[in-house]
Amino acid sequence: MARKVIAGNWKMNGDRSFAQDLVKSLLSRPEWGDLKAEVVVCPPALLVSSVAEQTAGTPIHVGGQDCHQNARGAHTGDQSPELLADLGASHVIVGHSERRQDHGETDNQIRSKAEAALRAGLTPIFCIGETEQERSDGQTLAVVEKQIRDGLPDLSAADSGADRLIVAYEPVWAIGTGKTATASDVAEVHAALRRLLIELLGEQGGQTVPLLYGGSVKPDNADELLSVDDVDGALIGGASLKADDFWAIALATL
Ligand code: 13P
Repeated sequence: MARKVIAGNWKMNGDRSFAQDLVKSLLSRPEWGDLKAEVVVCPPALLVSSVAEQTAGTPIHVGGQDCHQNARGAHTGDQSPELLADLGASHVIVGHSERRQDHGETDNQIRSKAEAALRAGLTPIFCIGETEQERSDGQTLAVVEKQIRDGLPDLSAADSGADRLIVAYEPVWAIGTGKTATASDVAEVHAALRRLLIELLGEQGGQTVPLLYGGSVKPDNADELLSVDDVDGALIGGASLKADDFWAIALATL
């Protein structure tokens, strides 16, 4: 069985005081003792250091939103996975559709980034998902399976176990649109992803990887989405910017 994971992707939102207030509010919740889910917040890179300091010794994990495939070097403006780890991050999102679209990231590049993240000791949150056009062409499963086959990091190369990998299925058309996939669509995709992970990583490894759903997850649809078989948690954008909403979704894992 995969562990539960609730991750917030703040994208390019927030400043120092916003981050401090949001984290403070989350830390003040009374239900932490009951929550079994791994809770991760992924602030903008420039806030990773201060959020990691604020959450040190607490149950909140901190993640980056992207990293370079090299640990260091002449890569102006990019984020080193080793530096993210040094600042206190434990996770990093790779292959988000906004990176694929805005920066032309390829499956090969994403695999290299995920492997660099693993080498740096980070847990990659590896994102996949089809566009609206691909969905209407009936290509959803083919697209996400190709993204996994071509982009999944080689765990042995980075000397890591499957417990160091998280996969997030985020249909591109559901991101920030208020549209969500139906529970039966999500069930179909997640079942296919689980089968593929078992094929690639073996029974034990494939069952261990948490499979998150992302795309307009809100408090009012979290119960339904999180109760789908093989949905082990959520990757949350807009609703992760509001402590009450993010927390309500986290509580839906109970
Ligand atoms: P929304 O929850 O705002 O749709 O964003 C989802 C997402 O892209 C998380 O990575």
